[in-house]
Amino acid sequence: MQKVNLGMIGGGTVGSGVFHAWQLNGRLMADRLGVALDFRRIAVKDLDEPRPYPIPRSLMTTNWQEVVNDPQVQVVIELVGGTGIAKTMILSALAKGKTVVTANKALLSAHGPELFAAAAKAGVNLYYEASVCGGIPIIKSLREGFVANRFPAIYGIVNGTCNYILTRMRQEGADFADVLADAQKQGYAETPPDLDIDGFDAQHKIGILASLAHGFWVDHRDIHTEGIREVSRIDMQFARQLGYAIKLLGIAKRVDGASDSKRGAPTVQVSVYPALIPASHVLASVDHVFNAVFVRGDVVGDTLFYGRGAGKDATASAVLSDVADAALDLKNGTPVRVPPFVSHAKKGRVLPIDRIVSRYYVRLSVVDRPGVLARISAIFAANRIGISSVLQPEGHEGESVPLILMLHDAPNGAMRQALAAIARLPVVKAKPVLFRVETLD
Ligand code: NDP
Ligand code: HSE
Repeated sequence: MQKVNLGMIGGGTVGSGVFHAWQLNGRLMADRLGVALDFRRIAVKDLDEPRPYPIPRSLMTTNWQEVVNDPQVQVVIELVGGTGIAKTMILSALAKGKTVVTANKALLSAHGPELFAAAAKAGVNLYYEASVCGGIPIIKSLREGFVANRFPAIYGIVNGTCNYILTRMRQEGADFADVLADAQKQGYAETPPDLDIDGFDAQHKIGILASLAHGFWVDHRDIHTEGIREVSRIDMQFARQLGYAIKLLGIAKRVDGASDSKRGAPTVQVSVYPALIPASHVLASVDHVFNAVFVRGDVVGDTLFYGRGAGKDATASAVLSDVADAALDLKNGTPVRVPPFVSHAKKGRVLPIDRIVSRYYVRLSVVDRPGVLARISAIFAANRIGISSVLQPEGHEGESVPLILMLHDAPNGAMRQALAAIARLPVVKAKPVLFRVETLD
């Protein structure tokens, strides 16, 4: 049987998971593919570092160049992470004509065009299934399964760590810091975990999905990004009372009505923020480390992908699926069987958040006094924002109470101005809390 030689850089959570999964099912893969996969060298930083799964000493080196420079190695798997040395590793592997498999969404987000150009120049492929949603084959689905579709909307719960934290806060009333420590222990979180908590990991992933879906490279600096630090248990409870759940969503939506949309050049919303979604929607029941991506195709209609979004085994499954594609490419002599993007030459535009129209949940802390609601609604009215419902738990006159307002569709810019004016009212006692409402229809 033909053999393909693998080299891996990184043997931590994902790297050791890949090696373990290959030990478990490498033979099965060979039977299915008609190609045997063999690990020749695995580079790590420190040979004595404890690993989730063991890797034989005889395979390990602390010099990553031994992997890239080994003429026998045909496929290099980069599982180091970050935007520093990993970029040099990938570029040197590509320059040597090796196919590269990576899970590094931070690097793709920051330097995607340069990396894909380097792969194209070398006539090899750069595979990245594990960069988005751990074990869910969402990249392959968009690239291949849905090639006959345009994508009016993609909504994703794409960060396992945040979903895990939000779920345990909601279900157990757990403390944010404790759950984060647990997510780190389980190997879900990035280093540093702020990348997860502040929404940047989700930004990297939704940027990759949006680029793939809309055929132009979405610059991560154009993606409006908010994390989960502002989500509190009290808002989860009010949201539930109103029939919603709060999830950190990555959103890539076509906004074709934008007045300055050019023909043929998609105008899109690409954002990450915690949002209220209907409790009855299937995405609302995606809990813990699970991810889900809701993809609306203009031909296929609505589809849903669900699975573990992080962790050594789920991510290893995605990495090995890329390795299988790379091995088949080599076997069949078709190095770029599926181009990395539908067309990354096409121009498109990401609409600034102020121009995006949303619905909103707002929680104010106000003095319970006659006329307060009238003053607040006058400010919303002056900004052409309509109130759709009001919730105020009974309190004592003259004391601070929460006031929850659900607001009709309005541009984010108008909403920002209205909230700034409301925050200045003397009867408003704390910084207003705002979440957008996504009905997902
Ligand atoms: P880890 O920190 O667990 O592993 C990183 C590995 O890189 C370690 O084995 C480390 O060696 C090695 N390393 C670091 N620097 C060097 C170097 N200069 N030369 C050789 N090896 C080096 O990270 P993860 O496995 O969690 O993540 C890897 C990638 O996968 C990242 O891009 C991450 O974003 C992505 N990813 C992670 C997921 C997860 O659930 N953890 C899920 C999806 C994607 P040593 O072990 O000796 O320290
Ligand atoms: N830190 C990431 C997450 C890992 O929690 O989703 C998977 O990409």
